[in-house]
Amino acid sequence: MKIAIGNDHAAVEMKNEIKAHLEAKGIEVVNVGVDTTESCNYPVMGYKVARLVADGQVDGGVLICGTGVGISLAANKVKGIRACVCSDPYTAKLSKQHNNTNIVAFGARVIGIETAKMIVDEWLGARFEGGRHQGRLDMIAEIEDSQHLKAAD
Ligand code: RB5
Repeated sequence: MKIAIGNDHAAVEMKNEIKAHLEAKGIEVVNVGVDTTESCNYPVMGYKVARLVADGQVDGGVLICGTGVGISLAANKVKGIRACVCSDPYTAKLSKQHNNTNIVAFGARVIGIETAKMIVDEWLGARFEGGRHQGRLDMIAEIEDSQHLKAAD
């Protein structure tokens, strides 16, 4: 399995710890985040991870900024990306089972490293359940493709 990881200046330490955590599980990690605490612009790293995921170069992505919000917003602008900010493992697990998220995001200024590891583990271990959930994801894709949702007419 190959996972892309991206972060801004607020999350260098957490990125390094999550990268080591993933590698200890035998997962290959592509690091497109920054490695210094010099102020930078999170949309760049959000885009880089999203691009790798959307192009099928990796099996999923992890994004970390101060809150996880900005970097996931940027990632979600790439077609086909379903990124969510998680501050708890339950949301991370359900985000894969019901929403088939392909990127998980969190905030280094919001949660601690042990919670972050649990979030990543639950997310990686969960599987999309399909069925009724697929129809809802198709609706989200319809909004993305046409900026319109027939079901809302
Ligand atoms: C950087 O100060 C901060 O704005 C960023 O890490 C993130 O929290 C944005 O959503």
